[in-house]
Amino acid sequence: MDRILIRGGTPLTGTIPIGGAKNAALPLMAASLLTAEPLVLANLPDLADIRTMANLLGQHGVTITNAEAGEARHGSGQVLELSARHITSTTAPYDLVRKMRASVLVLGPLVARFGRCRVSLPGGCAIGTRPVDLHLKGLERLGAEVELSEGYIEARAPKGLRGAEIVFPSVSVGATENLLMAASLAEGETVLINAAREPEITDLAQCLVAMGADIDGIGSDRLVIRGASSLHGARHTVIPDRIETGTYMMAAAATGGDVRLVGAKLDHVEALVRVFETAGVCVSETADAITVRRRNGRLTGTDVMTEPFPGFATDLQAQIMALMATAEGASMITETIFENRFMHVPELVRMGANINVHGASALVRGVPRLTGAPVMATDLRASVSLVIAGLVAGGETIVNRVYHLDRGYERLEEKLSACGARIERLRSAA
Ligand code: EPZ
Repeated sequence: MDRILIRGGTPLTGTIPIGGAKNAALPLMAASLLTAEPLVLANLPDLADIRTMANLLGQHGVTITNAEAGEARHGSGQVLELSARHITSTTAPYDLVRKMRASVLVLGPLVARFGRCRVSLPGGCAIGTRPVDLHLKGLERLGAEVELSEGYIEARAPKGLRGAEIVFPSVSVGATENLLMAASLAEGETVLINAAREPEITDLAQCLVAMGADIDGIGSDRLVIRGASSLHGARHTVIPDRIETGTYMMAAAATGGDVRLVGAKLDHVEALVRVFETAGVCVSETADAITVRRRNGRLTGTDVMTEPFPGFATDLQAQIMALMATAEGASMITETIFENRFMHVPELVRMGANINVHGASALVRGVPRLTGAPVMATDLRASVSLVIAGLVAGGETIVNRVYHLDRGYERLEEKLSACGARIERLRSAA
């Protein structure tokens, strides 16, 4: 297994291009199942999760071709054409779903267009139990019959789906996406109340509109969808990755650097910018980039609570903890979205951080410095928080289980090295 070696202590200075958003790309790829015509997606990141979704769609019968072979410039993302004209299977098998929970996003589109779908239940996950009950209840409200059998979700709607009012008892990104896609092909009007408002949902809604869907309230927590009997092909460009953006903002701030993030959008990371203002990090925006610069001296510890968008993203919680580990004073970091998302804490502690977890909150007492150590983590964002800690720490850090990073960070070592970081991938012999 590959590892990443970091020799810390160098401030990051330079420019980093921000790629297309993984969590926008995955539902957009699933949306290709809604139409017999090709969906062209531009600015797709080259990541393990994108390849897993492509494999899943491929086994459903979707043909995927590189739409602009030879034209894709370094850092500008891939352009793929996805055509779901001939679907050969409506089953999403366990072997693919267990690799990536976002596989469950094929459920809504397949039931809506073909009247049936069988998707393996995703099971638990390193960061929490992550049930899919809201996806299933929503589909039932749209008239689907849903059963659980032999570890699979079996959904049927032989006469098609019917629009309905769906009130989500709590905010779910995935359930909002699945039902938004399903409702686009349901008969009549669907109203999604207490819908998630993440930029990835706005991106999906805009793509669906380009495919012929009629959606009001885009960007709000009340989406009104008037279903169409069919959707057509379209071309859509994936939004920049706000979690990649926030991660590099944190790396720049932690190392006392000065970094320009090209293609990043400030309105996607406003909650982080507010924390930075209190902590002592300057953020400025130009037409095509965000620049992050740390003011002189240590940062000031700041409390953070994760919330659905536009609140502070749970996918940036591990990274802000690595940042606050060396701030002056204490920070209380509270996780409200997932019940088990502090796996990075013991690893940060091994690097010299002073962190105590009390239930859903972690009390971080800032220390003047971290020291390098061999570390590992069990999910993507936890792993990248250890990279940030390694960039700040004195000495060498080795991050194990790099495959987690490869799920969500494209060319991580290359982007950081270009800003002066001493970071390299140690390839395994096998
Ligand atoms: C999406 O996951 C993201 N994944 C996650 O990013 C992100 O952490 C999460 O949203 C929250 O922002 C993708 O977009 C592919 P949820 P999702 O449904 O849709 C509970 C990363 O690192 N819930 O909003 O699965 C659930 O257990 C990943 O890139 C139910 O109880 O998240 C959680 O506690 C990790 N029942 C909360 O809601 C349901 O039916 C929010 O989950 C669905 C969810």
